[in-house]
Amino acid sequence: MFRFAQHDKARSVQSPRVLNIEDLRRAAKRRLPRVVFDYIDGGAEDEWTLRANRRAFEAVTLRPRCAVATPVCDLRTTVLGISLSMPLILAPVGSCRLMYPRGEEAAARAAGAAGITYTLSTLSGCRLEDVAAASEGPVWYQLYLVGGRDCALAAIERARKAGFSALVVTIDTAVAGMRERDIRNGARELLSGKLAAMLPFVNQLLAKPRWLAAFLADGGLMKFENVIIPGKGPMFYADVTAALEQSVVTWDDLTWIRQAWNSPVVIKGIHTREDARRAVDMGVNALVVSNHGGRQVDSVAPTLQILPEVMAAVGDRVEVLMDGGIRRGSDIAKALCLGARAVLVGRAYAYGLGAAGGAGVARAIEILRCDLVRTLKLLGCASVPELDRSYVDVPGDWLGK
Ligand SMILES: Cc1cc2nc3c(=O)[nH]c(=O)nc-3n(C[C@H](O)[C@H](O)[C@H](O)COP(=O)(O)O)c2cc1C
Repeated sequence: MFRFAQHDKARSVQSPRVLNIEDLRRAAKRRLPRVVFDYIDGGAEDEWTLRANRRAFEAVTLRPRCAVATPVCDLRTTVLGISLSMPLILAPVGSCRLMYPRGEEAAARAAGAAGITYTLSTLSGCRLEDVAAASEGPVWYQLYLVGGRDCALAAIERARKAGFSALVVTIDTAVAGMRERDIRNGARELLSGKLAAMLPFVNQLLAKPRWLAAFLADGGLMKFENVIIPGKGPMFYADVTAALEQSVVTWDDLTWIRQAWNSPVVIKGIHTREDARRAVDMGVNALVVSNHGGRQVDSVAPTLQILPEVMAAVGDRVEVLMDGGIRRGSDIAKALCLGARAVLVGRAYAYGLGAAGGAGVARAIEILRCDLVRTLKLLGCASVPELDRSYVDVPGDWLGK
């Protein structure tokens, strides 16, 4: 029965129903309550950066070499010394159990099966040990300091024991961004657990009975199983906004984080060459040029545009990754042409998870893989390491050109 249901779910995201990430987005919109869909889909304030991240890919055009046969395209690469089947990593996405039962485990399993890295957010509903066990591939742990230093140290120790190979420290979340869709949808009220507050917004949940049944069967509103507050236990969902405000990660924190974690440290949330240099001077092993998918400070430049200035500043000293706006394999190719070692995707797989659980995540990865192979063949380029500036035209005013 379970197997049948899984098969059915996998079929629901196959061709011709689902050909691209936008199709997965629409499928997620159909299955999820508005408050959950908008949590994935939305950005901060006017959502200018959210749109700009996408537009930046449109501003870069490809320069193919035609009449070149590339019967086999090699997508393999290494990031921090670990082999990946393609230059793709699943970004930390919090609260995946709102999207699908045991969402983080499902996403990690799909990533591992595809031979790529999964990054688990601190703000997750599944225990980090269970997530590591679910994946047959590499896993990274993304760190917020919610709950304080002792709480973070305990999570770091657990992550080390469970086999997470890198710590991703996100530095762009001094407070949660102003996501107006969440406020209008009553996210705070729905998470409060107080019936009177929830009532005006609860229709969105009732309108999606299949989602609701699965959510309740998965235990209902999750707690943060990897944020164990000393003397209290896992952090409650309703406490997260206040906790984020009290837990800004500073450069000083990097010093003790480095001491507590003797494997690679990745800094996520680099917006400028100045911060890139500072992070590298502090000895980090990799950077992610990221604006949190346009969910934190609005009006910052799109990440693809920032990538050349960061590459010019530190590209020869550290591995540079990027995320933000990737929806097509050709987007991955463009980022690699501008110097990224690999890219992270957030929404592209979260839509898949919301649409069909692990089968949807696997489909998102498959779409991006097939797209990337096709793009390389159309460019006349036989392998990922061969992608360089000669394959793209970049707007003249982007720095670092
Ligand atoms: C629903 C959602 C939740 C997220 N949660 C986190 C998080 O907990 N920690 C973090 O560092 N980044 C988080 N991010 C940001 C992603 O890691 C990533 O930077 C971003 O999604 C990249 O942009 P993209 O969605 O256009 O691919 C989240 C993104 C989304 C869409």
